[in-house]
Amino acid sequence: MLSQAAQSIQDAALAAVADAADGEALSVVDREFLGKGGQVGLLLASIKDAEPADRPRIGQEANALKQAIGAAISERREALSGEALAAERRADDFDPTLPAAPLTRGSIHPVTQVTRELEDIFTSMGYAILDGPEVELDYYNFEALNIPKDHPAREMYDTFWCDADMNLLLRTHTSPVQIRALETLDPPFRAIVPGRCFRNETTDASHEHTFHQMEGLVVGEGITVGHLIGAMKTFLRELFQRDLDVRLRPGYFPFVEPGFEFDIRCPFCADGCRVCKKTTWVEFCGCGMVHPNVLRAGKIDPERYTGFAFGFGLDRLVMLRHGIDDIRHFMGGDLRFLEQF
Ligand code: DAH
Repeated sequence: MLSQAAQSIQDAALAAVADAADGEALSVVDREFLGKGGQVGLLLASIKDAEPADRPRIGQEANALKQAIGAAISERREALSGEALAAERRADDFDPTLPAAPLTRGSIHPVTQVTRELEDIFTSMGYAILDGPEVELDYYNFEALNIPKDHPAREMYDTFWCDADMNLLLRTHTSPVQIRALETLDPPFRAIVPGRCFRNETTDASHEHTFHQMEGLVVGEGITVGHLIGAMKTFLRELFQRDLDVRLRPGYFPFVEPGFEFDIRCPFCADGCRVCKKTTWVEFCGCGMVHPNVLRAGKIDPERYTGFAFGFGLDRLVMLRHGIDDIRHFMGGDLRFLEQF
């Protein structure tokens, strides 16, 4: 049983809650009874002037009031929002037959699209798809690829180092997975490695700190440059749906010997355009015969086995294909760009 004072506060509060016509009115009731200096608060404050014997009862009553009034307010608030919704539905302008607002769907990133397409082509040619860590050891990214600590070729790769000892880095190319493949697979094998790479360089229209490459590695007995050219031509025919002239120029990469720059005839013109810079040739990838030191690092006998490798930029391929002029669009996260694919 509540004391008379408590009972009358509760009655007044519940009546006010029942009368409240909207959320705003409920908030007023809330403040008046439960707020700072509200009626329940005053009841509680009266403790200090009460007889010591009465104090526990007053405290308990104040708490009981807080709970009862609080519960009534939330219940009423819920009922009111239900009523508001129902009223909205009854209103003349509510048409339940209208179609819902369109759902916006995401789309597959253009680099992912081309990666999947290439994966399909290469798997149809008998290649396995391999993966490797993006945070890599110096050993795999450089050392085992025939790029020792003091090698000038390291300057081609502006590296994000992850530790002070320069042991860990963000891989600067997908080539380290060549070593991981040689360590774990028994020749003969063919594999591709699509993946993200990172370089610590100033970004511009053709340089991005994060980009994508696809590596290829084929190892077996009697593998020659002829196989390399044949594999590339087959793959390019699938990709561009026609035969393209190709040419090899000498190129230097420490992990291949001989090494080449592999060019394709410009897929977009016959006599020179913006893409091929008026030369009719487009640089497609770096490639070559796997260096004996690399085979040895992967515990493969270079006297018995040979292999070829290639590596190209996936972002650049997408740019070529769609006539995109700035690589920074890919990681920029601008939906106006991404929604076009
Ligand atoms: N890893 C090289 C780079 O990122 C590209 C490359 C060149 C990969 C020649 C290869 C290769 O496998 O044989 O610049």
